[in-house]
Amino acid sequence: MLRLGILASGRGSNFQSIIDAIENGRLNAQVALLIVDRPNAFARERARKHGIEDLYLNPQEALSKDAFFQRIRDELTARNIDLVILAGFMRIVRRPLIAAFQNRIMNIHPALLPSFPGLHGQKQAVDYGVRVSGCTVHFVDEGMDTGPIIIQAAVPVSPADTEESLAARILLEEHRIYPEAIRLYSEGRLTVEGRIVRISDYDMPEATLVNPPPGC
Ligand code: GRF
Repeated sequence: MLRLGILASGRGSNFQSIIDAIENGRLNAQVALLIVDRPNAFARERARKHGIEDLYLNPQEALSKDAFFQRIRDELTARNIDLVILAGFMRIVRRPLIAAFQNRIMNIHPALLPSFPGLHGQKQAVDYGVRVSGCTVHFVDEGMDTGPIIIQAAVPVSPADTEESLAARILLEEHRIYPEAIRLYSEGRLTVEGRIVRISDYDMPEATLVNPPPGC
């Protein structure tokens, strides 16, 4: 069975969506380890509630950024992790981890990449005035939200939206597509060719605009 290692920094609602998908049989995988870089990350509570090992690694104790990611890599490989899931992990992943898990690290970003990478993707979308934003699951490379795109979901944006109201609607879609992307991986259906991810036997979802904003 696919063994997942989760990296998180905060509340861990995406982590929870993965736990839920496993527990209700939508995803055939096992979360073998949660690593956090902040001691008070709420994601740890979720891990403990579900009997998942959690580990706090203090970035200040590492000699360098690369050394911190070497440590993460070593903890993951010691537990035979197959796939690394970034779930609100607030750091740029460095080469030692990427090299060990080539096309085996996923991230979710709260915008339709390549638009609005980096922090506060929802605020960037509201401030720019786009009519559609959404979320993206992608493989992780050394750039900032630049890796090959796996799946995306669109969320309409209203001029009345605030960062918070848009973030709440995008989050619903994040919780839907992240377990879905992991499921596709677990079924061996993802192939990466350059920056293109091919999905075998995949029925493209209709471009549905779900969770319309108020006044749409
Ligand atoms: C999500 O918006 C995700 O897209 C971004 O960080 C946030 C994490 O939220 N990468 P949570 O910790 O999963 O609740």
